Amino acid sequence: MENFIFQNPTKLIFGKGMIARLAKEIPAGKRVMVTFGGGSVRTNGVYEQVKEALKDFETVEFWGIESNPKVETLREAIRLGKEKKVDFLLAVGGGSVIDGTKLIAAGLLYDGDAWDLVLKGVCRNAVPLAAVSTLPATGSEMNNGAVISRKETAEKFAFHSFNPVFSILDPTVTFTLPKWQVACGIADTFVHVMEQYMTRPGQSRLMDRWAEGIVRSLVEIAPSIMENQKDYDKMADFMLCATMGLNHFIAMGVCEDWATHMIGHELTALHGLTHGATLAIVLPGLWRTLKQKKMAKLVQLGERVWGICDGSDEERADRTIEETEAFFRSLGLPTRLGDAQIGDDTILEIERRFMKRNVSLGEDGDVTAEVARRILENCK
Ligand code: NZQ
Ligand code: ZN
Repeated sequence: MENFIFQNPTKLIFGKGMIARLAKEIPAGKRVMVTFGGGSVRTNGVYEQVKEALKDFETVEFWGIESNPKVETLREAIRLGKEKKVDFLLAVGGGSVIDGTKLIAAGLLYDGDAWDLVLKGVCRNAVPLAAVSTLPATGSEMNNGAVISRKETAEKFAFHSFNPVFSILDPTVTFTLPKWQVACGIADTFVHVMEQYMTRPGQSRLMDRWAEGIVRSLVEIAPSIMENQKDYDKMADFMLCATMGLNHFIAMGVCEDWATHMIGHELTALHGLTHGATLAIVLPGLWRTLKQKKMAKLVQLGERVWGICDGSDEERADRTIEETEAFFRSLGLPTRLGDAQIGDDTILEIERRFMKRNVSLGEDGDVTAEVARRILENCK
């Protein structure tokens, strides 16, 4: 196990009716900017609950943070927030609203253009923010990451700043999610766990078991939540799986990969494909390409999650990849580039972009532009 320092400062507030606690959690006297997406919160009662809870606060609303939030939109929010002198931010929505609000929080204390902050990659100064999370997927409600897009150049990059000081997760608000978003959320959570697990074997028994526990839970509940997403207990488990999948609890002392995500972000940047769907395409292709290197962990995952206990290591690894791809397919997701009408020109464009940026991804930094091209060839 590698040395590590672990701290997760987000207070998690979980369960039915918990949005009402907002008034207790936000320090009195704060001038709060409340940020939203395109309006789903008006259809499921979340907006009314937030309004009611914040009735004694001075608030400014900012609407329209889109999926894969764009810096062009967030600049408007930063301008408004500076004008109104807000000193607390509350993101109400999915990962896109929370991520976008992380950039707004940093932008409010920065004099230059917000895209500079994204390119710097790390930000050390921001207005405090909190979240009401409405979509289990990204873990943004309990981590310090954010992924921001720039329409002008079709780019999408991650940057790191601060965790929300608290996040409220009420599983009943997920009852209105479109099926596609539930499927993409399950895939995103699954792949987050794999990015922290599918690396070198034998680093930490505990991290392995926690990671396997999350994906086993997902696999167990996925068929029934795809059928009926109004099952409170199962959606509660799904929500917690998503948060635990990317709040760094399962990454203590182990190396991480993230190549699937970096390639997936390019597919979204170039084609607008939903984040979770890009991962369902890239992960099996990455495993096919790096099978020898990841063999021991593929065999372990196969045995502990898919129940594959016989055959040679090679056969077991192959079956693990097949089962995982079949799982994504069972959610109604594309698992090949062709399913999403993505062709060879995109593969070459991603290779060109990675070459220009001189990328070296994966747990050993050996996923270069050329390896990324081979991975994408294996996603056809
Ligand atoms: O915009 P509204 O109207 O709210 O509708 C949203 C949006 O259309 C809708 N929605 C959300 N909650 C709902 C709901 N509809 C009905 N009922 C609800 N309860 O769902 C749509 C998708 O929302 P979005 O926020 O875009 O989805 P998600 O949470 O999957 O976030 C995706 C973004 O997060 C980034 C992705 O790259 C992508 O940009 N990620 C952030 C990470 C992080 N911060 O750590 C890690 C992830 O790997 C990921 O990269
Ligand atoms: Zn993700």
